[in-house]
Amino acid sequence: MRFDTPATTNPIDQLKVIGQPTDRIDGPLKTTGLARYAYEQHDVVANQAYGYPVGATIAKGRITAMDLAAARRAPGVLTIVTAENAGKLVKGNFNTAKLLGGPEIEHYHQAIAVVVAETFEQARAAAALIAVDYAEEAGSFDLAAARDSAEKPEASDFGGPPDTSVGDFAGAFASAHARLDQTYTTPDQAHAMMEPHATLAAWEGDKLTLWTSNQMIAWGKADVARTLGIGKDKVRLISPFVGGGFGSKLFVRADALLAALGARASGRPVKVALPRPYTFNNTTHRPATIQRIRIGASAEGRITAIGHEGWSGDLPGGAPETAVNQTRLIYAGENRMTATRLAVLHLPEGNAMRAPGEAPGMMALELAMDEMAETLGLDPIAFRTLNETEVDPENPKRPFSQRQLVECYRIGAERFGWDRRRPHPRQVREGRWLVGMGMAAGFRNNLLATSGARVRLGEDGMVTVETDMTDIGTGTYTIVAQTAAEMMGVPLESVIVRLGDSSFPVSAGSGGQWGANNSTAGVYAACVKLREAVAQRLGFNSSDTVFAEGEVRSGNRSVPLAQAAASGALTGEDSIEYGDLAKTHQQSTFAAHFVEVGVDAFTAEVRVRRMLAVCAAGRILNPKSARSQVIGAMTMGVGAALMEELAVDKRRGFFVNHDLAGYEVPVHADIPHQEVVFLDEADPMSSPMKAKGVGELGICGVGAAVANAIYNASGTRVRHYPITLDKLI
Ligand code: MOS
Repeated sequence: MRFDTPATTNPIDQLKVIGQPTDRIDGPLKTTGLARYAYEQHDVVANQAYGYPVGATIAKGRITAMDLAAARRAPGVLTIVTAENAGKLVKGNFNTAKLLGGPEIEHYHQAIAVVVAETFEQARAAAALIAVDYAEEAGSFDLAAARDSAEKPEASDFGGPPDTSVGDFAGAFASAHARLDQTYTTPDQAHAMMEPHATLAAWEGDKLTLWTSNQMIAWGKADVARTLGIGKDKVRLISPFVGGGFGSKLFVRADALLAALGARASGRPVKVALPRPYTFNNTTHRPATIQRIRIGASAEGRITAIGHEGWSGDLPGGAPETAVNQTRLIYAGENRMTATRLAVLHLPEGNAMRAPGEAPGMMALELAMDEMAETLGLDPIAFRTLNETEVDPENPKRPFSQRQLVECYRIGAERFGWDRRRPHPRQVREGRWLVGMGMAAGFRNNLLATSGARVRLGEDGMVTVETDMTDIGTGTYTIVAQTAAEMMGVPLESVIVRLGDSSFPVSAGSGGQWGANNSTAGVYAACVKLREAVAQRLGFNSSDTVFAEGEVRSGNRSVPLAQAAASGALTGEDSIEYGDLAKTHQQSTFAAHFVEVGVDAFTAEVRVRRMLAVCAAGRILNPKSARSQVIGAMTMGVGAALMEELAVDKRRGFFVNHDLAGYEVPVHADIPHQEVVFLDEADPMSSPMKAKGVGELGICGVGAAVANAIYNASGTRVRHYPITLDKLI
């Protein structure tokens, strides 16, 4: 189905099932432990062996010698695969460094071997017996030191052009009534998802099946085929449950390749889970940024010049963190510039983590906006409202499809009691606590991507949906079921959803908060086909056929839906494909984040006391799972503001705090009551679902709202995240 004109009324608008706060249909499987994650696929193939990875212990250089003899002799060992005996491997399209390195080493903990043994313990013990000699080379590990060597990267599909410029930024900034010129930094961050990367690989002749934990099945399938030099038709990925991704599982990682190679070499199915430290140094992370923001404004507070420059680093051939991108779209101002620069760093490879670009970008921009509002003597909401835009400010002929950012501010301010905020810092004291409020805008784009599905009406009247879409904890199973139920006029209990299998139609996958809208739109398209097939079989006129209460109705005829399949199951398969609506109109999601903190006047301990997010993000398909997405993202935003930081060993080039004890993320005790409000919206430009994403919107701006609240409470302006005690005392 081609979607290239704004959506009109369709069966989804009934909102009998869609839009309801339904419990997760996969909830019972998860809470009872019956949901099978990759490493738990104990019985899908017999005779499974275990692989344990060996990672390089230098960041850059070469292996000069590798002694496998002791490991080979160790109990239970079946095989050891290294780059020397693995056969020809081609780097995946989505990998910056090789998933199996050697003799060149590109980053610390790059996999250089996998040991396969009868048991996990035997594999791990043997891996420890491998002796490796290296010729270590000096590397570049410090973004601040590498900043001046950074270069302009190439434009990319997701990031767009590295630089943009409109009007005369330099002239307007120089002559502005009020000016801000500040530099902000965000650290390297880790996804720290609960389930580590894990894969079970089994070969059957020349066909490879991978039960793996992955967000983007079709990307993964293509990259596995490319790396191994086999046809895509020889590779199957199965990923029914994913224990968190946050971007770390957008691409297949070493677990998948090592399991496949280990299985090929041993002739046994092999499972590999990355040990926790490897999830930090072997996989990807969110790169640290340095961001310079300049804002010039008139006396009444109109932005006349806005500039945002961002620096980040990555391995050679890598890509930048596009932290400046939201600044192209969020505020008005005639004279503007953005610039992205990329330095070479020999740390583990950087890549997408929840809201890549905007998450760290908004941490800087929204802090700068708070500072500028103070300089101008304006309320932070008034300053933002004054600089609201209805069009893409770099391209004024291009309106937003929908934009209710000011309404988010208004409702948020009312709900949160913003009028009780004291404009000057350090004015509210409760015992030992200095109390303050902060806010920030939230902004994240809405991306459209082709997505397919197959829907079958069985002879028993059950509707089965199949798509390679994944549920990474987001609630996909449920919203897909809701979509099919709404379209086919059946209760939720009559829908079976099967996800995460590359033998199903290719979906948009889970990434960039595009999963919900696109994958359900694909299911919508397939259901339209199935409805036509049902009408045809029944001899109904498909244009006036209604699907409701388990029946199919046309004119004065009405039959149970199941009856249409009595003489054999019917199938509808299609995908949603998008025209130019995302080019003629800018599609984004918006939020206002409000935070109240207490800062201990003596110890500088920060406690978040209240949080509110008001989101305008198109139709909300399921308010319960959407709320869960947003509160999870708000929690992650608190982590980004106060705790999260990969500590870089700048001599050896690795992340030191490579476990969940050292890499701190918020726990329940850190998070107060959280409130989420969704504005009533339906965006006809986004898809027939009229929905958008919320999973990444929820994190964008939160960190700055915390930082701004800390300033309001304590009077200390911290521009370098995370805002730990030492920076406040
Ligand atoms: Mo998201 S960082 O695109 O999984």
